[in-house]
Amino acid sequence: MYANGPRYDGSMQLEPPSPRRRDAFLEVAREWRDGGTDRYAAALDDFGAWLAKVERGSRQATCPPGLVPGDHYWLVDGTGRILGGVRLRHRLVPHLEKEGGHIGYDVRPSERLRGVGSRLLALTLDKARALGLERVLVTCDHDNVGSAKIIERNGGVETTPSISDRSGKVVRRFWIDLREPGAAS
Ligand SMILES: CC(C)(COP(=O)(O)OP(=O)(O)OC[C@H]1O[C@@H](n2cnc3c(N)ncnc32)[C@H](O)[C@@H]1OP(=O)(O)O)[C@@H](O)C(=O)NCCC(=O)NCCS
Repeated sequence: MYANGPRYDGSMQLEPPSPRRRDAFLEVAREWRDGGTDRYAAALDDFGAWLAKVERGSRQATCPPGLVPGDHYWLVDGTGRILGGVRLRHRLVPHLEKEGGHIGYDVRPSERLRGVGSRLLALTLDKARALGLERVLVTCDHDNVGSAKIIERNGGVETTPSISDRSGKVVRRFWIDLREPGAAS
């Protein structure tokens, strides 16, 4: 079931956000906004401030109090087009154990159902390994069928679910052992 086009088989890599891809990223942010989601609206208002916030969030010393430091990456194709984004948190705290986990990802609407999300998580697991993590927790809402497939395809083993404090929905929780080679990488 690949509705947006053929399976994506071009090159893809993760890159930290930087001003050189500003225009490509703002195109993604507009696509989300036009689809009715504010996910990257702050970047449309002020890209420099958005980037500075992402950079501050990557280090314990500059991370806002109460937040866990984490790395943000863009998934970029061979032409410089941004296909998705991902956040890799360096450690868990109780609320992330319940919902959110180590990794949160999104594929731009026009690139979905082409295998991009599966590849995005696989590449992020390599980054997590490089950070020294031995296993990561990845969660999704119980009705997010696509995300659950992505997690399972990348070696996710389901553990006990939780209930979201935000939505009251059941959250599915999966551990991925990084000492085993990932299924989709
Ligand atoms: C969830 C999301 C990342 C999926 O990205 P994607 O690039 O479409 O994923 P893939 O193409 O790798 O799809 C993986 C599998 O899930 C299936 N799938 C993806 N979206 C689906 C959907 N909405 N409904 C049913 N199946 C879906 C695909 O068909 C594929 O299965 P198949 O290989 O057996 O056919 C994307 O829809 C997204 O960014 N959603 C909004 C943000 C989000 O939910 N992030 C995850 C938070 S946990």
